[in-house]
Amino acid sequence: MPHRIKVVMKESAREAAVEAARLIAAVVRSKSRPVLGLATGGTPELTYAELARMHREEALSFAAVRTFNLDEYAGLGPDHAQSYRQFMQRHLFAHVDVRPWNTRVLDGLASSVPAECEAFERQIVAAGGVDLWLLGIGGNGHIAFNEPGSTVDSRTRLVTLTPETIAANSDGRFFSDPAEVPRCALTAGIATIREARSIVLLATGRKKAEAVRQSLHGLFSERCPASLLQDHPDCTFVLDSEAASLLGKA
Ligand code: F6R
Repeated sequence: MPHRIKVVMKESAREAAVEAARLIAAVVRSKSRPVLGLATGGTPELTYAELARMHREEALSFAAVRTFNLDEYAGLGPDHAQSYRQFMQRHLFAHVDVRPWNTRVLDGLASSVPAECEAFERQIVAAGGVDLWLLGIGGNGHIAFNEPGSTVDSRTRLVTLTPETIAANSDGRFFSDPAEVPRCALTAGIATIREARSIVLLATGRKKAEAVRQSLHGLFSERCPASLLQDHPDCTFVLDSEAASLLGKA
């Protein structure tokens, strides 16, 4: 099955981040009540900085925007410095005019995880669905915390992180010691993500090149979760030259 994914290649990580911000801003400007799906991690940091700049200098308003975040570590509360809620505060929410009550990050301390996951799914539907979901990609092809083996019909749920993901998140960027990284997370499922009207996957750096190649040119397979975007009607991969470096090679 040939994939339907649009590929945009930029020379630098910065240009790729700005392109992703441009795609997000276009949705924010074109809808009266835009609904964004957001990612955390190192990759989108520059994109959020660019959105904050557009807010300051180009009057890009988030006042009517609703946001849903992909995932959150289980066991970390919203005030924990390494929680994804705090990441979003630091990198985006504190710098734009989004209304706090319109931002939804899964609660890592929820007393009932199934109830929390069901509420998250219901709230996306009630908001009218996600207009654009921004994704990163793991070196193993994961999207959100859907590790290899996650099914195409998976929904928001509790998952166990793989040792590679724990290692990737404890290389000093977020946690300094693997022992500090929570072993489980709440994550939107593959089906939750695939229901977005559009998807932008941002990948930068050499470490992502093989996962990007597999996602675009490998089989549509649960072994590489991002390959499960191949048949999405409006999915764009925005890549820098390093992340794109294995495309076109067998
Ligand atoms: C984060 C997320 C993850 C990351 C991925 C890449 O919300 O869902 O899938 O997008 O692990 O992380 P970075 O950007 O740190 O390389």
